[in-house]
Amino acid sequence: MKFGTKAIHAGVEPDSATGAIMTPIYQTSTYVQAAPGKHKGYEYSRTGNPTRAALEKNLAALENGKYGLCFGSGLGAIDAIMKLLKPGDEVVSTNDLYGGTYRIYTKIFADFGIKFHFIGMENAGNIENYVNENTKLIWVETPTNPMMNIIDIEATAKIAKANNCMLAVDNTFATPFLQNPLDLGADIVMHSVTKYISGHSDVVMGALICNDDKIAEKLYFIQNSSGAVPGPQDSFLALRGIKTLHLRMERHCANGKVIANFLKEHPKVDMVYWPGFESHPNHEVAKKQMKDFGGMVSFTLKENTLAAAHKFLSSTHLFSLAESLGGVESLLGHPASMTHAAIPKEEREKTGVVDSLIRLSIGVEDVEDLLEDLKNALG
Ligand SMILES: Cc1ncc(COP(=O)(O)O)c(C=O)c1O
Repeated sequence: MKFGTKAIHAGVEPDSATGAIMTPIYQTSTYVQAAPGKHKGYEYSRTGNPTRAALEKNLAALENGKYGLCFGSGLGAIDAIMKLLKPGDEVVSTNDLYGGTYRIYTKIFADFGIKFHFIGMENAGNIENYVNENTKLIWVETPTNPMMNIIDIEATAKIAKANNCMLAVDNTFATPFLQNPLDLGADIVMHSVTKYISGHSDVVMGALICNDDKIAEKLYFIQNSSGAVPGPQDSFLALRGIKTLHLRMERHCANGKVIANFLKEHPKVDMVYWPGFESHPNHEVAKKQMKDFGGMVSFTLKENTLAAAHKFLSSTHLFSLAESLGGVESLLGHPASMTHAAIPKEEREKTGVVDSLIRLSIGVEDVEDLLEDLKNALG
């Protein structure tokens, strides 16, 4: 099956009791057994729930994986990956990554004796300088947040294999529509389902997808033992959102391209970060591993001040100032005062997070209206 067909049909069957075409919300914590151990495949909803199971199968199919597991948030999914590790193990992670991932690594798992190296991965060869016999995991986020750097998944997977460690890829920005890390050699794909996959800013959820039987067995054990599972209502909403993932992503990408090019030509705009530009340092890698370039665009103003950024942020009408991304509606964010506020100015500026950096999550509205909104706000 091709992607759009899988988005609608994979893992989903008419309800066996009623024929309902939409997966029912099995809002139940437990399941009646005819005799001890004699049940219909479900015993308790932390361990398994039919609505969640349909979503997990669907997500596995979209990422060309054998196993899918859902969690109560993207961070819940990352937490489960980290529990595959032991004190003394080391992780090599990209240095330009979602702030919450950085926080759980440095503020929670570092205290459990896991050592992290945060490094630039735009040149995958650099990873080899940090891998040693204790390295158990390489963590890649691509495109990165908010600088839109691109990391070569296939080259990184080769380094992981050669050094006998796992490669996990946070595929939240690209979605399985644009990029399939398992096909490129990754061991685990992680998603904040909260974003494009659900797509309607009404669910918080995470997911992991993998092919390896042993990794899957351990992750299922952690999912059930630690218990960070999503409820059936949210599983239903995510499944419903996925049915239009391919259509939404096509429009996100088309709008993203128009807006990135508009910003590039605007006299008040300085830098524009979008992997679709030929001038993007890893444009060729993006072209190789992604189907298109996505709907996330970051840019800076020529007047590089907090005041200029704040004026712009409070002048748009269709783009709303909010955390998160990937919904049908356009959002904008200001990393220096929102996601990266806790990082000292000199530190954040080293990776490009300057005072006027603005991140756009470009929605699926009519692009003419979005352009008009940006034009007016830029003045
Ligand atoms: C790239 C990326 N990874 C992980 C997360 C965490 O996901 P959640 O907010 O669903 O816990 C986010 C959330 O913004 C994200 O943008």
